[in-house]
Amino acid sequence: MPAEPVDDPAWAGVRRGPLQAGEWVRLTDTKGRRHNINLEPGGRFFTNRGSIDHDDLIGRPEGFTVASSAGGEYLVFRPLLNEFTVSMPRGAAVVYPKDAGQIVALADIFPGARVLEAGAGSGALSCALLRAVGPRGVVSSFERRADFAEVAVANVTQFFAGKHPAWRMTVGDLVTSLQDPSGEADTRADMDRAVLDMLAPWECVAAVAEALVPGGVLCSYVATTTQLGRVVETLRAHGGFTEPHCWESLVRDWHVEGLAIRPSHKMIGHTGFLVTARRMAPGERAPTKKRRPAPGAYGVDYQGPRPGDVPPQAGEAGTEEARTEPSRGEPYGG
Ligand SMILES: C[S@@+](CC[C@H](N)C(=O)[O-])C[C@H]1O[C@@H](n2cnc3c(N)ncnc32)[C@H](O)[C@@H]1O
Repeated sequence: MPAEPVDDPAWAGVRRGPLQAGEWVRLTDTKGRRHNINLEPGGRFFTNRGSIDHDDLIGRPEGFTVASSAGGEYLVFRPLLNEFTVSMPRGAAVVYPKDAGQIVALADIFPGARVLEAGAGSGALSCALLRAVGPRGVVSSFERRADFAEVAVANVTQFFAGKHPAWRMTVGDLVTSLQDPSGEADTRADMDRAVLDMLAPWECVAAVAEALVPGGVLCSYVATTTQLGRVVETLRAHGGFTEPHCWESLVRDWHVEGLAIRPSHKMIGHTGFLVTARRMAPGERAPTKKRRPAPGAYGVDYQGPRPGDVPPQAGEAGTEEARTEPSRGEPYGG
């Protein structure tokens, strides 16, 4: 019997060896167009230049060129994590690789870390977090929509070729699940890191603070400046976090051909903003910010929380269902 992944030092959650039925492969044509197919015995992939039989791919080591029946050439590889997450089936909008990479680096996700994640959405960020914590860590993901949770489970299981030993999925609202006395939800309060990707992360700040260890990192990914302002002010108002750090990353592809070396004409202008803050020890507060706010920063029009306010609780005005997910541009490397 094969060893359980967590007991097997060679387990990496990565598919190796010859291509097998049931796994995804990526076919790239000579114009760079990519197609992802799920290998099935007897299956056939139709292209605009004839077809390719799946049986001609199954059993071969990845990294080869296959010709379609009408002579089109296709490069065959297993998708890398960043390629998989932008092309896998989606329920909710996914975190793209450039932001997932930033989250792993700036939220300091390490092998063996215990990470709380909400919402799991389609499972793209879950995959990146699981990769970073490895089989001996914990990624405890919460997703309040059962249909999205189902998509996330299918994607994560597909990518890691089975159940990832570090992953737990709770279907339910993060705040109510963390306070669930029934014992069904994962309510552990020793999390090293918490990563929020949802419309109203400020509603979860107080509950996440309870789940994080002192020194833990909270990282929130938001798509709009209004969300950014609200989550930052809520962290300040809570008082149990350090001054939030906010940033975004812009990634530009380059065209390199002979002497024509220049940035790509197209780039993704915006995906989202990231915020990180460290959890203080119980009863401790970070020194108050010495800089005075800019004139008008908290003027008559400002309606959000202010430093020293009681943090807003879950269930405050506005529900996820009443809103639509902000769009996140086109994926990198999709
Ligand atoms: C943008 S999606 C997350 C995408 C995910 N990070 C990925 O990369 O695939 C936001 C998700 O958060 C979920 N959500 C929003 N508020 C939540 C809450 N309070 N508790 C649990 N899930 C929540 C939504 O149902 C939605 O699926």
